Amino acid sequence: MLSNLAKCVEPDRVRREVYTDAAIFDLEMQRIHETVWIYCGHESQIPQAGDYYTLQIGRQPMLMVRAKDRKIHVLYNRCPHRGNMMCGDRHGNAGEQFRCSYHAWQFHHDGRLKQIPMMESGYTGTRLNKDSPELSMKPAARVENYRGFVFASLSATGPGLKEFLGKSIVAFDDMCDRAPEGEVEVVPNCYRVIQHSNWKLFMENQIDALHPSVVHQSTGRAAHEVEKQIARKAKAGEALSYHMLSAFATVTIDKWDNFQTISYPYGHCVLAGYMGLRPQDPDTLAYDKIMIRKYGQKRFEEIVGVNIHHVLVYPGLSVQSPLQQLRAVRPLGVDRTLTEIWHFRLKGAPEAIYRRSLAYYNLVNSPATLINADDLENFWKCHQGLSSDGGDWVSLARHHGHDIEKPGEISSAPNQGTSEAPMRNQMKAWSKYMSA
Ligand code: FES
Ligand SMILES: [Fe+2]
Repeated sequence: MLSNLAKCVEPDRVRREVYTDAAIFDLEMQRIHETVWIYCGHESQIPQAGDYYTLQIGRQPMLMVRAKDRKIHVLYNRCPHRGNMMCGDRHGNAGEQFRCSYHAWQFHHDGRLKQIPMMESGYTGTRLNKDSPELSMKPAARVENYRGFVFASLSATGPGLKEFLGKSIVAFDDMCDRAPEGEVEVVPNCYRVIQHSNWKLFMENQIDALHPSVVHQSTGRAAHEVEKQIARKAKAGEALSYHMLSAFATVTIDKWDNFQTISYPYGHCVLAGYMGLRPQDPDTLAYDKIMIRKYGQKRFEEIVGVNIHHVLVYPGLSVQSPLQQLRAVRPLGVDRTLTEIWHFRLKGAPEAIYRRSLAYYNLVNSPATLINADDLENFWKCHQGLSSDGGDWVSLARHHGHDIEKPGEISSAPNQGTSEAPMRNQMKAWSKYMSA
């Protein structure tokens, strides 16, 4: 399969090995994850000089660190001496400098060598002197920050971050614009989930508009029952968190077709619709008032009128901007995938608005919810089935040939929101990267 990748992907179907072959996985890490822009984290995760956060880009252990001049650096988490990982903790503060726990080599926050114990006596006459570039911690080839969201690319060439994000940049604009102060702040810490299945199954599921009313129907129905009971005896506003779940049952398959997916170059995609609801409870009205004071009526209407449920930034990010949450995908192996589930606060918004999106975070995206568990079970079952000899192809044919293509975007046709266009678009991007 590796020698003939072009045969793995057809416009409406994909060979199963794409999800299960370890050699293909290695090549994906090299040609996709270790090449394109990957989300590292939010700048508010490392507010003070010396603060660092570790993360994985493809197969590379990396860290993101704040220097004294406030600049953020992304470095390989590796000591140039004998290769020790510089930071073994997930996050912390390095102090004045990084100091390797093995032989005490020290590095500035930007990775430059600061000191080696008895450098003069130890290295005189060797190939190393204090200016040798191989004595620095290696930086990511490129680092860019968009509205507080830090990305790195391990390749020195390729499109810049803004060009790469293209229209999917709306994910970060929509999230930040909804804050009265125009910025968000991370809620420490994130949930971490390891799924026993390929990373692409996660990405494909994120804008699979057909699955929610099947996979999440049981949870949605139970929530709907409770919601109705509460509505009978209490104020309607109190049932809002149940409404977040009941929508999975009340929005049936045929209704999902009313939504629309718009796919973009590089595999990105937007799901429009669904969360366009604007409740009129006192908390929302108080928030609206602050926003109008800040932005004026016209701009306020534009901001809250952005009708997006979900933005997928291929290959490693799924953003729910109106609810200030995102999931970062970190592939660990061909059948093991870590997702980090992060949540953000709108700076300047009332506490109640934060609590509401926190409820969604816990009810829909956390490892504790049945919503997440039901998705994970299907991912695992897909991976098991795809590892079998029961068939060679994965079908992505739903509404194939009916999508509306314009330069730079492919939209699902009216009443075809459950089109598998987003998956076809991801595989198209995948093929392009893999054949590079
Ligand atoms: S491995 Fe880091 S100082 Fe030796
Ligand atoms: Fe789901």
